[in-house]
Amino acid sequence: MSYANSRIPNSAQHGVHELLVSQVLKHRDAPFRKPYADYNRAALVAALAGWDGVAPLILDAGCGVGHSTIALARAHPDHWVIGVDQSADRLNRRKPYPEALLPTNMALVRADLVDFWRLLFDAGHRLARHYILYPNPWPKIGHLGRRWPAHPVFPFIPRLGGVLECRTNWQVYIAEYVCALSLLTGREIAWEGFEATVPLTPFERKYRDSGQPLYRAVVDLETAS
Ligand SMILES: C[S@@+](CC[C@H](N)C(=O)[O-])C[C@H]1O[C@@H](n2cnc3c(N)ncnc32)[C@H](O)[C@@H]1O
Repeated sequence: MSYANSRIPNSAQHGVHELLVSQVLKHRDAPFRKPYADYNRAALVAALAGWDGVAPLILDAGCGVGHSTIALARAHPDHWVIGVDQSADRLNRRKPYPEALLPTNMALVRADLVDFWRLLFDAGHRLARHYILYPNPWPKIGHLGRRWPAHPVFPFIPRLGGVLECRTNWQVYIAEYVCALSLLTGREIAWEGFEATVPLTPFERKYRDSGQPLYRAVVDLETAS
């Protein structure tokens, strides 16, 4: 596939999955007992090793090659920014940024978010900002449980607080995301289409340059409505 010819996820599913609501409620009401892997515990320690314990925290969840983490660290020099991705290969491809040119208020760590989100929460940390940028869509109908909104870890995402933003190029995904988040927070959360004039991530740039519509939902979890 050439660069500016990426496709919108092709799916037989055209609206919110009929089982989403029951899945979200089930996960909200049942404890998620999956044990933590040691490498994810170590990743949390590494992610916070350079933090002064005071600066507000920003999480770039599924940061890929980390370009958005770097941009967020530059935009918020008084915050500590953590980029997490499960792919060591992607994290190692953060070119064209040599180590010496990276902002000093950030860390990139390899971890599974299924553990990392819960470890952050259990350790009592709360976020000032939280980005979930172009999560894997898993567009097959039968893959509902792989999409974050229907995953058992999803209830931990709003519990971490802050200004939470998700972006995607699949309208079904953003609809499921706001449906799940609205259920968990008891608030009517909206999504919108937007223009990525200055793309924050490589996927965003690729989708924009392919002429695709982009969607996002931004909610300040610290405000009442
Ligand atoms: C479609 S890419 C988007 C990357 C980046 N946010 C961007 O927009 O360019 C999704 C990323 O999520 C990461 N990811 C998927 N599941 C994950 C998990 N359970 N834990 C950590 N990272 C995960 C993948 O490795 C991949 O880098």
